Amino acid sequence: MKAVVIRTFGDPDGLEVVDLPVPAPAPGQVLITPEAIGVGGVDAVIRRGTLATHGFKEGHLLGSEVAGNITAVGAGVDETWIGRRVWAFTGLSGGYAEQAVAAVEDVLALPDGLTGAEAVALGSSGVVAHFALERARFTPGETVLVRGAAGSIGITAVQLAARAGAGAVVVTTSSEQRGARLRDLGATHVLDRSGDGGGPDAPSGFDVVIDVVGGPQLPLVLDRLNSNGRFVAVGVVGGHPPADFGMRLMEAFRKSLSFATFSLDTVPVPDRQAVRSAQFAQAARGDLRTVVHQVLPLDQAATAHREMDAGRVFGRIVLVP
Ligand SMILES: NC(=O)c1ccc[n+]([C@@H]2O[C@H](COP(=O)([O-])OP(=O)(O)OC[C@H]3O[C@@H](n4cnc5c(N)ncnc54)[C@H](OP(=O)(O)O)[C@@H]3O)[C@@H](O)[C@H]2O)c1
Repeated sequence: MKAVVIRTFGDPDGLEVVDLPVPAPAPGQVLITPEAIGVGGVDAVIRRGTLATHGFKEGHLLGSEVAGNITAVGAGVDETWIGRRVWAFTGLSGGYAEQAVAAVEDVLALPDGLTGAEAVALGSSGVVAHFALERARFTPGETVLVRGAAGSIGITAVQLAARAGAGAVVVTTSSEQRGARLRDLGATHVLDRSGDGGGPDAPSGFDVVIDVVGGPQLPLVLDRLNSNGRFVAVGVVGGHPPADFGMRLMEAFRKSLSFATFSLDTVPVPDRQAVRSAQFAQAARGDLRTVVHQVLPLDQAATAHREMDAGRVFGRIVLVP
């Protein structure tokens, strides 16, 4: 089968289309023929080598989520799964391929009315948005900043915060046009990537920050937390924050701030699946919006990554085998 691996960490030219043997589903796994493959921000972070210290190595087969049909099951898996249309989390590897395996507990049947592309635009990221807001103990009326809002996690976080009754939903993004799209999804104030702008009525402080970006400017955002504010770091698309950012937190000691990292890995699989299933149903009804930026053939994965690195993607790029 055709698959896309990281030949060398760094820019997208290091991605390579290769031929690999079709994986056999191990006990507890299913084999899927994808109709849609999600290109996540995490894939770019892995490709750049940002997570090399977390055990990712060159030769890595990228991709963590697919939607498609189950064609075979491993030992111990109910055979009635065969032929069903599903979304699946493949782990942090294995998605950019013509065939993919996933543990059966990480598979969810797709509701009618949800396309494969929509499913991979929402499947992994929507639950991150949900649980990050929950971990932040967000309550109605509070001011929320979604930093890096134009990706799939941010797009869902904006919608969830708005419909849960946030006092203000502030976002950072890189252009007016992207800001207008985020307003359409529920943002009330649009800041630039540095956190400037937003108009005269923009809130000066935030009760909750959901941060997809990290990077060198993270301490500036910490400074703008209100007393008792909660900052939840969910991503590092802008790289790691400076090593001494904890000092900024300590300097604001008397504001009783909380800084948390949040990883979906810490949420029990059944809890993730329950939220994901509800979000899929909402998306199928049109109550939760998914944004598919572009659909490209699998062998153009490097183009997809170039688009992400150039900052041209709003939502998710989807690959099709
Ligand atoms: N916590 C978890 O469990 C979990 C699960 C999955 C993924 N993740 C993490 O979440 C991140 C990916 O999320 P995603 O797919 O929603 O993000 P994404 O689409 O890659 O990026 C979101 C937005 O961030 C902005 N951005 C990109 N580079 C930036 C930079 N250098 N500085 C400032 N802003 C920048 C861009 O918007 P603008 O151009 O409009 O500013 C971009 O659209 C990764 O770090 C991944 O590791 C976490």
